[in-house]
Amino acid sequence: MTLQELAQSLHNCQHCKLAKLGRTQVVFGVGNPNAQVMFVGEGPGFNEDRQGEPFVGAAGKLLNELLQSAGLSRAEIYIANVVKCRPPNNRDPEPDEVETCKPFLFQQIDLIKPKLVCTLGRWSTETILERKVSITKIRGQVIRHNSLVVFPLLHPAAALHQGNLLPSLREDFGKLKHYLDQVNRESIAAPAPPASHPDKMQKIQMDLF
Ligand code: URA
Repeated sequence: MTLQELAQSLHNCQHCKLAKLGRTQVVFGVGNPNAQVMFVGEGPGFNEDRQGEPFVGAAGKLLNELLQSAGLSRAEIYIANVVKCRPPNNRDPEPDEVETCKPFLFQQIDLIKPKLVCTLGRWSTETILERKVSITKIRGQVIRHNSLVVFPLLHPAAALHQGNLLPSLREDFGKLKHYLDQVNRESIAAPAPPASHPDKMQKIQMDLF
């Protein structure tokens, strides 16, 4: 299945109760289907629900600024959310909604195969790492989980509400730029891996994190 086919299959998704709780549309995700870096938020808010795209409201503006600071554009990354439909009144997604939508997020990740999955906020981090976390403790650290390399970040909306979190968020985007620069330098400098060891290059790059 391609990413486009997955998106199409969820176009009128009725798998959980969010389908009937006032969503305008399913917000599948947006960006480069071959992105090196994928960002995962919590769920669409008012503006995302209207426009059909993740992170287009106030948190999205801050995210754009942070991406720019890390030398990244929205066109080169991929952005999705844990739940693809807006929870009413911007409430947190409920456990049954997360459980229902989670396999689609993992399918997206499998298809995109990003080198780095940046989780935005506690909900997204706990979903990807499949355990409870303290986001303020583990943010800005690279964590390997199954075949994923995960980089937990504070949620931009949290930093908008609590300005004291903003310096940490900026600091972590600075680290992200550093990791990506390392990866890119390595892939320019290193010769192509021999055909008999196709996963060697990947191993070298993963070791950088
Ligand atoms: N917050 C999220 O977690 N996701 C969005 O798409 C927008 C705001």
